[in-house]
Amino acid sequence: MARRLQGKVALITGGARGIGAAAARLFSMHGAKVVIADIRSDLGRSVSEQIQLESGHPVSYVQCDVVSDSDMQNAVDTAVSMHGKLDIMYNNAGIAEKKKVGILSVEREVFRKVFDVNVYGSFLAAKHAARVMVPRKSGTILLTGSVATESYGFATHTYTASKHAVVGLAKSLCVELGEFGIRVNCISPFGVATPMCEESMGLDEKALEEMFTAMGNLKGVVLKPKNVAEVALNLVSDESRYLSGLNLLVDGGFCLKSSA
Ligand SMILES: NC(=O)c1ccc[n+]([C@@H]2O[C@H](COP(=O)([O-])OP(=O)(O)OC[C@H]3O[C@@H](n4cnc5c(N)ncnc54)[C@H](O)[C@@H]3O)[C@@H](O)[C@H]2O)c1
Repeated sequence: MARRLQGKVALITGGARGIGAAAARLFSMHGAKVVIADIRSDLGRSVSEQIQLESGHPVSYVQCDVVSDSDMQNAVDTAVSMHGKLDIMYNNAGIAEKKKVGILSVEREVFRKVFDVNVYGSFLAAKHAARVMVPRKSGTILLTGSVATESYGFATHTYTASKHAVVGLAKSLCVELGEFGIRVNCISPFGVATPMCEESMGLDEKALEEMFTAMGNLKGVVLKPKNVAEVALNLVSDESRYLSGLNLLVDGGFCLKSSA
């Protein structure tokens, strides 16, 4: 197998489960030295050990709440002290509300929490990645949006607004950091049956996949965490070296269909 990230150092937030864990596994199989940053310590540690056994490349876990400046600083500094540099920051950590409510019922605390993790977390990940990437004039930052950045009525107002903010942040960063050779992109998946969706929608994996497949545009294909990780791999690898400022939808055409 061609190792597309051989020698690269990648930090993946929210890598203990779901899409982030699939990306950690795939990046590691492609030769990257991976650091998983998450709040789920037991899971993060066991997933790291498991992936390292499978790939034979170093995978470590660092406890990190993306909303904490000092945690993000520590996560980036840990990657650099272990491996000498940081090539890839994949900020994948994100949350959704537990239930969808109308505009009259959105609670301030829920709004704040979703924006803290999804938007401020992305900001801190980019800030600390830039801190170590700018002096080397090299690196790539990948933030996480959603189809909610291009389709409406599917996700909650708060989640939709937060993911729009992430796209704006990615584009703004792309312009500032281009001068230093640093690429910034956003990846925006359609529905994937992960623990986040199971918890927020109250459905199991099978029921979620059936629902997403029925809603989706591209029939006969079930979008899995690994498929999103494969697109992320393309975006962070050197084959995409002139790609920056993109919000890449991994949606099989869903957004086009829903806006038709
Ligand atoms: N699953 C989908 O359908 C879908 C669709 C579009 C976008 N997304 C986005 O993809 C990303 C990953 O989602 P997922 O479905 O794999 O979710 P998930 O809940 O399965 O995994 C998310 C991971 O992020 C971690 N996390 C949450 N808050 C954190 C924090 N404050 N600090 C550090 N880590 C934290 C969790 O512990 C978990 O390991 C999210 O940004 C989500 O919004 C998911």
